[in-house]
Amino acid sequence: MQKTTAAITAVGGYLPEYRLTNKILETMVDTNDEWIRSRTGVEERRILKGEGLGSSDLAVPAVLELCKKRGISPDEIECLICATVTPDMVFPATANIICDKAGINKAFSFDINAACSGFLYALTTGASFIESGRYKKVVVVGVDKMSSIIDYSDRATCIIFGDGAGAVLLEENTEGNGVLDSILKSDGSGRQYLHMKAGGSAKPATVETVLAKEHYVYQEGQAVFKFAVKGMADVSYELMQRNNLTADDITWLVPHQANLRIIDATANRMGLSKEKVMINIQKFGNTTAGTLPLCLWEWEKQLKKGDNIILAAFGGGFTWGATWLKWAYNS
Ligand code: UT7
Repeated sequence: MQKTTAAITAVGGYLPEYRLTNKILETMVDTNDEWIRSRTGVEERRILKGEGLGSSDLAVPAVLELCKKRGISPDEIECLICATVTPDMVFPATANIICDKAGINKAFSFDINAACSGFLYALTTGASFIESGRYKKVVVVGVDKMSSIIDYSDRATCIIFGDGAGAVLLEENTEGNGVLDSILKSDGSGRQYLHMKAGGSAKPATVETVLAKEHYVYQEGQAVFKFAVKGMADVSYELMQRNNLTADDITWLVPHQANLRIIDATANRMGLSKEKVMINIQKFGNTTAGTLPLCLWEWEKQLKKGDNIILAAFGGGFTWGATWLKWAYNS
């Protein structure tokens, strides 16, 4: 018998209705549709509108969709891990709030903060819980309400990010499918290029920090771009090498949707043609921890049992990584 692996057995997703198009952004900051498309690939992004709504409100519909698809009650979930950098509150964990709102009453839950690589970190953690045999049903959520930390007068950041949530259910598999290998990396010295200056314990919120706009994303785009191109491509290639995977073996690349040029560079390094790469950045922008599960959600019907899939991401921290999994079901 094959050893026990953790396989994705259902996917859910949620995107808010409001579409912030490049045309609308042209009326807000000094930018233009042509620049945004050619430099990033983004055409529009979704924004969660409404007083008092947070990341948990994006995640709950995704989690409930997944339960419905798999035909399980929320009470059957034993653990929920939420990857996010835009928690509803600094504490408690957004995972706790999602469980409460979704009627998940018998699970323990916690958040993981690894920025754009958060879903890969959470997936790898959740998979270990299943592989150990301790838990049978683990939900992994990737969600961000980036609009809550974006300065819409800063053209360098407001054009990229959007809001969205994706979620997967992990269950044990003995057919050789599921999560097979992951390489995760981090380097905190990269924090200088991508961070939020205030609101943490080192610089708590004050009137001055608010006036200085220090509660928004600060990004040195070009520097991050250079690290991201190299980091995401290198780690994906390393994962292929150590598992003796050739480009022909890989059915899909699921890349973090930060910039179309970073995605293209990663696919090129792996020797993959465009048809094998999931790309929806034009519709949703960069939803941070949401990008990878949202791709799986959108492509779910095209995925076949046994497909070799590589997920790859790079983000704040710096954090980066790649995961190899074999898809476990036909929709
Ligand atoms: O997901 C988390 C990790 N984050 C990333 O992976 C993001 C990585 N970085 C990027 O994707 C890109 O660096 C950006 C999309 C953020 C910026 O693109 P870029 O090609 O690196 O632009 P740049 O910052 O080098 O700016 C080039 C020019 C500048 O003008 P000059 O100095 O050449 O005259 C900018 O002022 O483009 C100008 N510019 C803009 N023009 C129109 C910068 N932003 C805009 C804009 N519209 N929105």
